[in-house]
Amino acid sequence: MDYAADLSFLFLNSTRIVFGAGSSGDVALELRGLGCSKALVVTDRLLNEKTDIVKRIAASLGDACAGTFCDVPADSGVHVVNAGAKLGRARGADSVISIGGGSVIDTAKGIAILLREGGSLLDYQGFQVLTRAQTPHISIPTTAGTGSEVTYVAVVKDHDAKRKLLFGDHHIIPNVAILDPTLTVGLPPLLTAATGVDAFSHGLEAVTSAQREPIADALGLHAMRLIMTHLPAAVKNGSDLTARGQMLIAATLGGAAFSNAQVGLIHAIAHVIGARHGVHHGMANAIAMPHVLRFNNDAVADRHRLVAEAMGLDVRGMSDEAAGLAAADAVCSFTRELGLPGSFREAGVPESDLPACAEAALADGAIVYNAKPVTDAAEVLGVLTAAWRGAE
Ligand SMILES: [Fe+2]
Repeated sequence: MDYAADLSFLFLNSTRIVFGAGSSGDVALELRGLGCSKALVVTDRLLNEKTDIVKRIAASLGDACAGTFCDVPADSGVHVVNAGAKLGRARGADSVISIGGGSVIDTAKGIAILLREGGSLLDYQGFQVLTRAQTPHISIPTTAGTGSEVTYVAVVKDHDAKRKLLFGDHHIIPNVAILDPTLTVGLPPLLTAATGVDAFSHGLEAVTSAQREPIADALGLHAMRLIMTHLPAAVKNGSDLTARGQMLIAATLGGAAFSNAQVGLIHAIAHVIGARHGVHHGMANAIAMPHVLRFNNDAVADRHRLVAEAMGLDVRGMSDEAAGLAAADAVCSFTRELGLPGSFREAGVPESDLPACAEAALADGAIVYNAKPVTDAAEVLGVLTAAWRGAE
């Protein structure tokens, strides 16, 4: 946990967090608290048509619901954000309420920008491009994973270029996050596992990142502890409200941690594998994680010891290097026991595309913050090849 005397960092978490079973019923109150009266609800078709979640929240909003945009796919795109903003503008929306997983919340962040600034989402790519507060946004996550409800980042795909675009700006952090465990009980076991492991990877990468700092450490390590205890329970019994609630908290902690300390090579790989081969973000993280831990171990073994301890491993008497390798092995068994695939081969990624994936990962923004500097595509290819083969 050592930091040098010249440590300097900026930590920001501006989101008002409301937690509790049934707390989504308070959405109208929260909207009024933001001084808004006409919200565009942003969600996906599954939630809109197969559950009563969206209808219940829209009903509690009454006249304050300007309309529902439910065309957000699992892998949202620039054109989706543009279409959502068009509807919001036509209905005179003064705010957005996102109900869904990371793709929905990130889409709503994009819509919030366009409702304030106009133009196309492509105009606002990059980091800290915006100069003023954006359209007020209440996020209501229905998965416990991305942490997008408290982060300054949105990932939106450019389907034409087959690339995931990153938008990073403190002005797109949602104003309010409503964490209601009753909304995640319907999430199937495999998605519960994949999204939960995404949250774990946020804690892990925040704690090991080149931009690590003590506040993010506290959040990231506690996120990992909660996930080790509660994710298996949530996967086993989706109706376990305690496990669901603690997972929502863990995802938010992980989000606040990485929104400040950033993520690294695990995410660089997951972004590329997701964009090029459609592998679920959490699954790609699960597969990449142990191999990136082994790759980074010589640079941050002391940090990996903290990860091992947060995972509940007894590493007393072990060197940092051995503790780090034990953490990598434990991450591998943890994700396999949750039912997630153990290799990119198993996930359907063709081996022939690995060199191109390595080049693309090297160009991904997340790699800049990896625990140890990565400048050569051959290094990434080594990690990708190990992850493609899986555990020996
Ligand atoms: Fe992630």
